Amino acid sequence: MTILSGMRATGKLHIGNFVTLENWVEIQNKSDKNFFFVADWHALTSHYDTPEIIQPSTFDIIRHYVAVGLDPKKSVLFVQSAIKEHAELYLIFSMIASVSRLERIPTYKEQISNISTKDLTNLGFLGYPVLQAADILIYKGDRVPVGEDQIYHLEFTREIARKFNLKYKEIFPEPQPIISKVPKLPGTDGRKMSKSYGNVINIETNEKELKEKILPMMTDPARIRRTDPGNPEKCPVWDYHKAFTKSQDEKDWVWNGCTTAGIGCVDCKKLLIKNMKERLEPVWDKLASTSVEDAIEIAEDGNEKARKVASQTMQEVREALHLRW
Ligand code: TRP
Ligand code: SF4
Repeated sequence: MTILSGMRATGKLHIGNFVTLENWVEIQNKSDKNFFFVADWHALTSHYDTPEIIQPSTFDIIRHYVAVGLDPKKSVLFVQSAIKEHAELYLIFSMIASVSRLERIPTYKEQISNISTKDLTNLGFLGYPVLQAADILIYKGDRVPVGEDQIYHLEFTREIARKFNLKYKEIFPEPQPIISKVPKLPGTDGRKMSKSYGNVINIETNEKELKEKILPMMTDPARIRRTDPGNPEKCPVWDYHKAFTKSQDEKDWVWNGCTTAGIGCVDCKKLLIKNMKERLEPVWDKLASTSVEDAIEIAEDGNEKARKVASQTMQEVREALHLRW
């Protein structure tokens, strides 16, 4: 069973990404064939006007992979653009990918109509799922841990695999997503966590900043006075507790205290800060001791391992298509 996933290199990683990475670490520890990479070409499909941000972000993501617990001994950690075979397979897949099918993918339609600050009418952005299919299938990935928004891309990946297998040769598996049980973390204001809203908490932060961001956090809007009971389901602080507070007793304390007005929101947030600090502190330490040079070294080692597998698959693909070279 081959596990594979990646993250786009478009900036700092936030605590939502932290929860995702923890999930990957858990999966890594149960499987012996793992590939985790940085999708820097995918970042370019939408950030082609600011290519300079992509490389620093790529190295930063590798640092975070290691800091949260992805282990270069258990997992191949690599960078997409270092493995040119992804681009070759993307090209081959483009021959059997339907343009109208790509135009109908919900995430594509949604971004094309909602993002007005960028011109996303380029071929690369339309072909995003084709490149993702190449990323996965070139390693014959069976299971892909991703967020809910990626199910359409996985569905498309299975379609391409099926089409290729039927038309040319049985080479590819039909990969299934592993959807994380932990729901998406909202931003500190309750809206979607996004740089443009200024409601993000980065993984690489410290206790002081954590307090500055958690204490003023939005709560259940109906809980105006300390004596008003609240509803945790309407409060983003509760979403954070679900992700960071492991102890059932503490979760019960929050739930019961909130719904009976037994605790105040400040008490609730202080407990959250304590638990976030506990979980993040080892990561902060590891980040501090992992330099960009270390990240490059890890990536170069991983690239080499990934390239071996990718070039083997490409050899099979070329043969199936009667391409000699
Ligand atoms: N599209 C994914 C995302 O935005 C990133 C990605 C690119 C990916 N290639 C992949 C994820 C292959 C899993 C497998 O999150
Ligand atoms: Fe939210 Fe906690 Fe306040 Fe309840 S007590 S409204 S969960 S911050």
